[in-house]
Amino acid sequence: MTQRTRPLASFGTANRSPRARETHPLTWRLNDDGAPVWLEDYRRKDGYQAAKRALTEMTPEEVCEEVKDAGLKGRGGAGFSAGTKWSLTAKGDGIPRGYLLCNADEMEPNTYKDRLLMEQQPHQLLEGMIIAGYANHSFKGIVFLRGEYVDAARNLKRAVVEAREAGLLGENILGSGFDFDIHVHTGAGRYICGEETALINSLEGKRANPRAKPPFPGQAGAWGKPTVINNVETLSSVSSIIANGVDWYHGLCRPGSEDHGTKMMGFAGKVNQPGVWELPLGITVREILEDYAGGMRSGCTLKAWQPGGAGTGFLLPEHLDAQMCSNGIGKVGTRMGTGLALAVDDSINMVSLLRNMEQFFARESCGWCTPCRDGLPWSVKLLKALEAGEGQPGDIEMLLELTRKLGPGKTFCAHAPGAIEPLGSAIKYFREEFEAGIAQPVHAATAAVGDAG
Ligand SMILES: Cc1cc2nc3c(=O)[nH]c(=O)nc-3n(C[C@H](O)[C@H](O)[C@H](O)COP(=O)(O)O)c2cc1C
Ligand code: SF4
Repeated sequence: MTQRTRPLASFGTANRSPRARETHPLTWRLNDDGAPVWLEDYRRKDGYQAAKRALTEMTPEEVCEEVKDAGLKGRGGAGFSAGTKWSLTAKGDGIPRGYLLCNADEMEPNTYKDRLLMEQQPHQLLEGMIIAGYANHSFKGIVFLRGEYVDAARNLKRAVVEAREAGLLGENILGSGFDFDIHVHTGAGRYICGEETALINSLEGKRANPRAKPPFPGQAGAWGKPTVINNVETLSSVSSIIANGVDWYHGLCRPGSEDHGTKMMGFAGKVNQPGVWELPLGITVREILEDYAGGMRSGCTLKAWQPGGAGTGFLLPEHLDAQMCSNGIGKVGTRMGTGLALAVDDSINMVSLLRNMEQFFARESCGWCTPCRDGLPWSVKLLKALEAGEGQPGDIEMLLELTRKLGPGKTFCAHAPGAIEPLGSAIKYFREEFEAGIAQPVHAATAAVGDAG
């Protein structure tokens, strides 16, 4: 197998920004030219030492506790404690061993952090999966991978073969008595497949509708067995915690952050250097924009920004000093999401931007519940009318009503609340742009003159 090196335009300066073992657990091993870190290279850089420690020196319960104490929160968008999820998974006498699923669907617009981690450092993900599989008594790990990620699929498959040949997957891993293997499954490309229970249905060959809970996947998930689902970045963070300990992990974030460790963060839009970087949780958004993304391009003024994906609310330039962590972004009224921010410049009309976003979300609805299935296309219809200057009085109020009807707790899954969150914040901060789309009433006298002509 030959090693392939590709230009890294789409990842920005990720590989060229300074990285150290002590401060950049996710990216310090990356090669500057972006060539994947294969097994030999990964092992030379202490790779698989954490898996060895977990499997041969720790009990599964101790691994769960360590990850819980480290405060590792899920990096897929919802931010649930990984260690807590693991400790709630059904395991023990009489309970069948289940699955460890890696959510690599990554279809959130403007988010591509998992792609970098899988393409360039597949063994770090596999090591995290082995440790998570051990902690959760899983017998099989499956990477549910976005179909378009062909380079990631190829590199992950090669890494799996390398790991099997080295006795890091399969039976009796590292002489520990633990059996575990990993399979890479490519999806067919739907946003909803990233929702964890829809992902399970898709994996089982069923239509990708989310499942009603309970039962939660940790009790009865894939093929009815206990199932843990974690994001690529979450699982890629695990080995460094086991290798370096809880105190070290707590020390990585900035003061004021209630989230620990580092996170892949980014900026896109008309900035000078769009890209993704590993940064401490709690860094300010202004620092990411100015120091890493190089500020706005000449001639472009920042009008609004989104912290982490299309499903997070808009904020203003005055919010740039917010810390990028769940409490920091929560304080200014929205969610960190995936942590890959979008800069909206003053040439963009918010009504058109929102029409584009809601069109995407409406298309990706699975159609199972009425508010989402009917409400999202309705919002698109209203936004199209406003965009064309043909809106009617009451349209903005109707859009606001939809933001309430599709809000948290009204639908089976979090697709609808995520889809509608940017709309509510866009109307809150840029209402005049929506009002400008209401058709001007034609004055009766003018109409009469016009008719006569
Ligand atoms: C519509 C929708 C799409 C989602 N897409 C993804 C995705 O692509 N990747 C991901 O990790 N999580 C995604 N999630 C979140 C998952 O349901 C789940 O919370 C996550 O995989 C759990 O992993 P974590 O705790 O490690 O973040 C999505 C959720 C929803 C509602
Ligand atoms: S909220 Fe939307 S995507 Fe989620 S179950 Fe309901 S219809 Fe499907």
